[in-house]
Amino acid sequence: MSSTSVFGAQWGDEGKGKLIDLLSRDADFVVRYQGGANAGHTVVVGKEKYVLHLIPSGILHRSKVNVISNGVAIDPFKFLDEVAGLRARGIHVDASNLRLSANAHVIFEHHRKLDQLSERWRGEGRIGTTGRGIGPAYADKAARTGLRVCDLLDPEHCRLRLRAALAEKNAIIEHVHGAEPLDLEGELDRYVAVGSSLAPFVADTGAEVRAAYKSNKVILFEGAQGAMLDIDSGTYPFVTSSNTGANGISAGASFPPRWVERAIGIAKAYTTRVGEGPFPTELDNAVGAKIREQGNEYGSTTGRPRRCGWFDTVAVRFALELSGADSWIVTNLDVLSGFETIEAAVTYDIHGKRVRDWPAATPDFSAIRPVYAQHPGWTEDITRVRRFEDLPQNARSYVEWLEREVGAKIVLLSVGPERDQVISRGL
Ligand code: IMP
Repeated sequence: MSSTSVFGAQWGDEGKGKLIDLLSRDADFVVRYQGGANAGHTVVVGKEKYVLHLIPSGILHRSKVNVISNGVAIDPFKFLDEVAGLRARGIHVDASNLRLSANAHVIFEHHRKLDQLSERWRGEGRIGTTGRGIGPAYADKAARTGLRVCDLLDPEHCRLRLRAALAEKNAIIEHVHGAEPLDLEGELDRYVAVGSSLAPFVADTGAEVRAAYKSNKVILFEGAQGAMLDIDSGTYPFVTSSNTGANGISAGASFPPRWVERAIGIAKAYTTRVGEGPFPTELDNAVGAKIREQGNEYGSTTGRPRRCGWFDTVAVRFALELSGADSWIVTNLDVLSGFETIEAAVTYDIHGKRVRDWPAATPDFSAIRPVYAQHPGWTEDITRVRRFEDLPQNARSYVEWLEREVGAKIVLLSVGPERDQVISRGL
């Protein structure tokens, strides 16, 4: 296979960073195609822990080409900070291994500010965004008022476009939100100046990735967030502003949909969610708190405690189907050690009716009552297990049960944060 999509099959934070780092060993190109610095991909290498927000996790392997393609919303200062942070830790980063699309939309300070101000207005309907300006930047893209990376490269042009955009946003910040407007001239100077630092990385990434595919290079598409946060198919409006699964690759990486040969979903052995919105299997009790503590479930981008609950086969089955994934990876299996009983939702009860498929057509998620199956747990520490047959019997049967219920092969299990803490089942 020379092109593979790897995506989150829940509400984000499935442990994609580690798995993409692992899978990118066999890849030539690692491509981010949506989202922005709202993502937080954690990779642990020996004693070193890296949290990447924008740059693909393949950057930790010297010979890989890492691509931020046109569908990503890029905060140029966060991008340069991340480059500097990696270099300071001895990671090689230059134009030979990091490429940035000229067509990627730019997240400006006014997007971040408006993201945070709008949340305050939403009150009960608050999304709980990461506050990184994602929604406002994608809104400007769709409204055709956004600026792209290529616009930053020409100082005169950038000044002209940004002046018009910011004048309007400042009026909204001041007169709609009653907040302090941004210093227009100061902002223009900052963004005009940053263009020259981005310039060395800028490329026609779509053309480069397509050319790589045609010359038989191995391409890995790194999804950010998760399928249930997808703007079209997720729990709208409590979603992010991009297409998070394999469905986002075609537009977001300028890569033909028929060329994506394989899709692999990633899901935790339980479920977590940060921010607001529907979460049918949420456990707002001591069991949920135990999962949070054992799994250290605190956001890598915002530090917020994650909401925790049991595995949801309805949601994951839906997520895998959306991306056409016939295999998946289960992470954090070790976190479930020590639970006497493990539960997982098999179907939903909605107004007295048993539903096996994700109810995408209902906006009333509060009517969902998960119907659970119970599994006996295990007490052993499994973080050192490397072969499936060495797992406790109850852990094996839980995994095999998940596989049957979801209807797709589990090709890898992760049993800890380190690179080598995996159990392969024929990836
Ligand atoms: P936004 O993407 O910052 O607009 O946030 C929209 C929703 O997506 C919020 O509920 C966020 O918590 C969630 N979200 C965004 N990025 C991530 C992520 O990388 N992991 C988990 N949740 C995320």
